[in-house]
Amino acid sequence: MKAVTWQGPRKMSVEDVPDPRLEEPSDAIIEVTSTAICGSDLHLYEVLGPFMRPGDIVGHESMGRVVDAGPESNLHPGDRVVVPFQIACGNCYFCQQGLQTQCETTQVTAQGSGAMLFGYSEIYGSVPGGQAEYLRVPHADYGPIKVGDELPDHRYLFLSDVLPTAWQAVAYALRSPGDSVAVLGLGPIGQFCARIAQHLGMTVYAIDPVPERREMAARHGAVVYDSTEDSVGQIKEATQGRGPDAVIDAVGMEAHGDAQSRLAKFAQRSVQFLPDKLGKPVMEKAGMDRLAALYTGIELVRRGGTLSLSGVYGGQASPLPMLTLFDKQIQVTMGQANVRRWVEEILPLVEDSDDPLGLEDFVTHRLPLSEAPSAYEMFQKKEDGCIKVVLDPTA
Ligand SMILES: NC(=O)c1ccc[n+]([C@@H]2O[C@H](COP(=O)([O-])OP(=O)(O)OC[C@H]3O[C@@H](n4cnc5c(N)ncnc54)[C@H](O)[C@@H]3O)[C@@H](O)[C@H]2O)c1
Ligand SMILES: [Zn+2]
Ligand SMILES: [Zn+2]
Repeated sequence: MKAVTWQGPRKMSVEDVPDPRLEEPSDAIIEVTSTAICGSDLHLYEVLGPFMRPGDIVGHESMGRVVDAGPESNLHPGDRVVVPFQIACGNCYFCQQGLQTQCETTQVTAQGSGAMLFGYSEIYGSVPGGQAEYLRVPHADYGPIKVGDELPDHRYLFLSDVLPTAWQAVAYALRSPGDSVAVLGLGPIGQFCARIAQHLGMTVYAIDPVPERREMAARHGAVVYDSTEDSVGQIKEATQGRGPDAVIDAVGMEAHGDAQSRLAKFAQRSVQFLPDKLGKPVMEKAGMDRLAALYTGIELVRRGGTLSLSGVYGGQASPLPMLTLFDKQIQVTMGQANVRRWVEEILPLVEDSDDPLGLEDFVTHRLPLSEAPSAYEMFQKKEDGCIKVVLDPTA
């Protein structure tokens, strides 16, 4: 079959690889009909490169039809399913608590990590991903979400990651109806954080440097700001000088710029005091600029407010302004989304004929799998108005 593989930093290529097969009685094989490129895939592109092996199949946002199903899988050939990005058992201590990304059955203990993820480096188990014609789904007795035949793929596909991720970020941020929230970053995740927060009655301010991403968020009711201007000052002004009740960071560790902020300056200074062994990799791998969004969030959120991180962070020695975090009494929440925990709440909204989350205004590019390498580049460079790419392995 054809699959998108990682071959080196910034180098994805479509290769012929062996078809996946059932390996366990609870496995299923699906023929992939849609598979999206995620901001998290861009971290593999470069920052997480050291944890990838040439030939690794990437992709973790996939849906399709079951073509082969193990006897303990709960699925049958022909079923239409969306596959959550994490692999979880559904029975263990953590799954029972709705913490599926900590699943004790699939935890990657050798790396000290949580549950296995599809196509996401050796940190998460080197599981072959879903940007391919076929995908082997382990623990298919629990993970896959069965959906009907009426609606097109783009209405369901984002249950695999984007929607539960945004839902969890908002759920962690929201404490009282009517709260205000600032969303940092208007990529796919930030777009839905803004829409879901709005849907749940919050006032939404949103920041991104890219004009067409701001325009999309504005179409769905957010008050938008350009991160290259004094957006922090403007949002504080709009919130009685206090800052919003919550800030969602939907940027993560590859933020652009803003090294001018007071906290970023603090971080630069503090790195000079780290022992060389630690300081150097911090500067090279997680560089100060990479924490720009996190610092903005800490600066912007009101005293006693919540900072909800859905953007992925990977540094082990990232300098944090503990004085400010402590003094401002900020509550910080974070983590990979627990997909199955939120699906029951989200499904009625994606199936609603009024399309309250605006799924008809989201995907900017649908391309054949063969165009994956240029699609990655376009998404990373934000060319051609690209906000979300869906690859079609059947095209
Ligand atoms: N927690 C989870 O389960 C989970 C799931 C999926 C994605 N993610 C993470 O969420 C983040 C966003 O993903 P995405 O798919 O939306 O990717 P993306 O890269 O398209 O979005 C990031 C956005 O942030 C903007 N940005 C960059 N620097 C900024 C700054 N300083 N201030 C404001 N905006 C800035 C960019 O212009 C871009 O629009 C990534 O870190 C991704 O890994 C987390
Ligand atoms: Zn994703
Ligand atoms: Zn489990």
